[in-house]
Amino acid sequence: MDLNGTAAIVTGGASGLGAATARALAASGAKVAIFDINAEAAQTMASEIGGVGIECDVSSSDAAEAAIAAAREAHGVARVLVNCAGIGPPGRAVSRRGPLPLDDFRKIIEINLIGTFNCARLAAAEMLELDPENDDGERGVIVNTSSVAAYDGQIGQPAYSASKGGIASLTLPLAREFASKGVRVMTVAPGLFATPLMFSLPEEAQKALGESVPFPSRLGTADEYASMVLYICGNRMLNGEVIRLDGALRMAPR
Ligand SMILES: NC(=O)c1ccc[n+]([C@@H]2O[C@H](COP(=O)([O-])OP(=O)(O)OC[C@H]3O[C@@H](n4cnc5c(N)ncnc54)[C@H](O)[C@@H]3O)[C@@H](O)[C@H]2O)c1
Repeated sequence: MDLNGTAAIVTGGASGLGAATARALAASGAKVAIFDINAEAAQTMASEIGGVGIECDVSSSDAAEAAIAAAREAHGVARVLVNCAGIGPPGRAVSRRGPLPLDDFRKIIEINLIGTFNCARLAAAEMLELDPENDDGERGVIVNTSSVAAYDGQIGQPAYSASKGGIASLTLPLAREFASKGVRVMTVAPGLFATPLMFSLPEEAQKALGESVPFPSRLGTADEYASMVLYICGNRMLNGEVIRLDGALRMAPR
């Protein structure tokens, strides 16, 4: 996929991995629309990169439809969708307060898993109708964000792990479904990355987490995630796969 002049959408693009991806796509010449529930931060990031910031709760069908329409109006139909919006509050299935409220579990599934599918289905519906962009007949690329918690979820992560496992699992069926129209679907499963989510932890805890990574023994940077997304966009043979980006980290049970 040639990113120069291409319309792209990044959900959760106002912060962390999504923000770095929005910057990297814009630096490659893409016209970037940032979908984020934090409208103000989305606007700030959009003005920094010369894109558009659109308030959107990715788990809402109506909000995502409206956001896709607004992005199309600004930049044309997107050939690239990067799903980064996500939340990860921990919660044991049974804690001192009793069983985990079902709504807490549901909320994480709604935003992480259903939000990813929601934006993928709506963006794909438009991508599939585009003219092919190159001699392979490629029309678009969708990149989702799972997590190593899809594979080695820790105690306190049943909802988060289930949501990220769902994202990993929908990658292949979507890639197979869209293959005849040249739309690729890939997923990145990051390990531990330095983002605002991580900065909320005490410095000692951040250091300890970084040291738990075999090599390199540090937290990943958002730019390293973004460069993986750019690589996926550029390499047409990558399709229907989940790539762990984790420095060989395998999370301990707790
Ligand atoms: N940071 C890590 O170590 C790490 C590791 C594995 C996976 N991930 C995943 O990467 C993604 C990005 O994480 P991050 O660390 O950059 O976090 P972050 O909190 O910095 O960014 C997440 C962004 O998503 C937005 N968002 C939250 N709910 C939303 C909703 N309903 N609709 C639209 N936007 C919403 C937030 O406003 C925020 O801008 C998440 O899906 C996260 O689960 C992160």
